[in-house]
Amino acid sequence: MKIVIVGPGAMGCLFAAFLSKSKEEVWLLDKNNERAAKIKESGISLEGESGTWQIKTKTTSNPQEIGQADLILICVKSFNTKLTAEEIKPLLNPDTKILTLQNGIGNVEIISEIAGEERVIAGVTSEGATLIDTGKIRHAGRGETIIGAIDGKTPVQMRAIREVFNKVGFDCKMSRDIKSLLWSKLIINVGINALSAITRLSNGRLIEHEGTRRILRSAVTEAARIAKRKRIKLIFDDPLAKVEAVCEGTQNNLSSMLQDILRKKRTEIDFINGVIVRLGQELGIDVPTNKFLLDLVKTIESSYLQSV
Ligand code: PAF
Repeated sequence: MKIVIVGPGAMGCLFAAFLSKSKEEVWLLDKNNERAAKIKESGISLEGESGTWQIKTKTTSNPQEIGQADLILICVKSFNTKLTAEEIKPLLNPDTKILTLQNGIGNVEIISEIAGEERVIAGVTSEGATLIDTGKIRHAGRGETIIGAIDGKTPVQMRAIREVFNKVGFDCKMSRDIKSLLWSKLIINVGINALSAITRLSNGRLIEHEGTRRILRSAVTEAARIAKRKRIKLIFDDPLAKVEAVCEGTQNNLSSMLQDILRKKRTEIDFINGVIVRLGQELGIDVPTNKFLLDLVKTIESSYLQSV
């Protein structure tokens, strides 16, 4: 199987490093020339949960060098999904599958529109990783990776992907209801990411303070109301308890959005709390806490980005 991982962020490097242990042909595609050359030369270094190790990975900034792929794993930030879906066109053959493990809601729709829905596999992962430097990551936590096709089918390629993932040490399962998984993960990100980015608190600290705990609960309640109206069944019965359990389970993590803010990068807010605000408007449901979180994160972003 020829596997291409797009995006050299924390998740991209984690999957590229693990998959490079397999006997499959694995490529990391990074549109930044200089960075790609650096990773090609030095490989990917990991520390943390899976020990301290290093591995060489074929890395390029030029899709033409790779040729057609069997699996493309999209690990770019959600606001770059559209551009990435265009850029990977030269890698597609009629059977190529595209797997998105990105945060938020909207990526599946964007990739489907550009590359065709039949190719798209969505997934959620509880693996945790933090980017320390170019090609260097801390493997912060281990967890399940669940993948599924939008139509609920389990094509043979998807089973092959699961097998490869499990062989290299991931805990990969398949689901027939990936929408419900994506929304369940969204609810967690809605509660944690923006609030931690604004307050600069680690996930665990968010529920130690009465004020942040109240805001977290309010954002999650609003999002769960939207999910209910859209008849999306979450994989947990009690969203508040679940989000608080994730805060405890990942207590020392700095959420991905907080990491973005600290690095003065654009965040994925539009694909997380922004989705709840947009759907709230469409459905006539008030979501003031999500609007407030969206506005604050946008304000922080605009203090260091020229055009957001
Ligand atoms: O985006 C993140 O940081 C993660 O999805 C989560 C679960 C909030 C843990 O930090």
